[in-house]
Amino acid sequence: MRINGVYVSSRRFLLLFQKIIIFAAYCITTKIESVSIMAKIKTIGVLTSGGDAPGMNAAIRAVTRAAIYNGFKVKGIYRGYKGLVEDEIVEFKTQNVSNIIHHGGTILKTARCKEFKTVEGRQKAYDNIKKHGIDALVVIGGDGSLSGARQFASEFDFPIVGIPGTIDNDLSGTDHTIGYDTALNTIMWCVDRIRDTASSHERLFFIEVMGREAGFLALNGAIASGAEAALIPEIAPEVDQLKELVKSGFRKTKNSSIVLVAESPVTGGAMGLAERVRKEYPQYEVRVTILGHLQRGGSPTAQDRILASRMGAAAIDALMEGQRNIMIGDDDEKIIYVPFSKAIRKDKPIDRDLLELLNKLSL
Ligand code: ADP
Ligand code: F6P
Repeated sequence: MRINGVYVSSRRFLLLFQKIIIFAAYCITTKIESVSIMAKIKTIGVLTSGGDAPGMNAAIRAVTRAAIYNGFKVKGIYRGYKGLVEDEIVEFKTQNVSNIIHHGGTILKTARCKEFKTVEGRQKAYDNIKKHGIDALVVIGGDGSLSGARQFASEFDFPIVGIPGTIDNDLSGTDHTIGYDTALNTIMWCVDRIRDTASSHERLFFIEVMGREAGFLALNGAIASGAEAALIPEIAPEVDQLKELVKSGFRKTKNSSIVLVAESPVTGGAMGLAERVRKEYPQYEVRVTILGHLQRGGSPTAQDRILASRMGAAAIDALMEGQRNIMIGDDDEKIIYVPFSKAIRKDKPIDRDLLELLNKLSL
């Protein structure tokens, strides 16, 4: 037999034909599956949960507008899982998300909800979801919120897509989380100001930053603000970072010093470290600044707004493709789908080259 001028045996032709049929069947089934999922999903609920993060509003806007653009109804759920449990759910039109892209915080409000951690609480949430005709959820939040989403999705076989919204940048499988870049810029802005007084008074400053159990904000904040060191939980158990710091030369080449400390109990926190310095190295004049919730507020940076807009629209695409139990992530600027099980693993590695760089540059 001759195909495109090439002779093939009947047996090879049959094999080739079989493969084409299998491939076509696969494509048709996948398409049918995604069309039937789309037919099932008419209304999408959106909520923000856990710690607020700058850029959450941009994500709510993108989810709402992309959903409406694709013919879905949208329900806004207030106060995260609390609003699901207590039935604080309203229909969202495109105007509900006008003029919000530049605001920090979340127009949907957020909360930490103990009741959602119980079977009874989640049952109430499911009943309200049914009452409002919601067929799929988009959850914007950190690892706790996505753990809750995973639990709920598996218990009720319900489609949920997550969007990483947290300043901590601690979700695995995504290079960035929404809010992280803005928080980093805020930290840099604050440290620049503290540097003026640190150098005028020739003091050692410990500046404590957030991050829960992760050191991303401390490490990258230290690089961005030219700090001497970052004391982070990923390293703390291995070495006495304070001892290393003192050994490496405070007061040898400089008279003032800025050290960023991740808030984790593993590092001892800025207060704990300052206490140690007062006892063990009384020759140093030490001061502490805890940046606290200052880091979570403010207008989101362009990078966070763009990331949130892309991720919000991608969440709707994912639902239309029949995806569920995944978080939208970014990998080298590309949108990817990360299973919830991976996203919440708490094993995102810090870049050890950055520690090395910090060390080199703080001579
Ligand atoms: P974040 O999302 O910023 O990490 P939290 O850890 O406080 O914030 O989690 C937000 C909410 O997610 C919690 O208040 C709770 O309602 C819900 N949640 C967290 N973990 C679980 C879980 N294992 N099961 C059910 N719900 C959870
Ligand atoms: O997860 C975001 C975060 O800001 C963490 O960095 C911090 O540990 C925690 O939330 C603080 O939570 P709260 O606002 O409830 O004190």
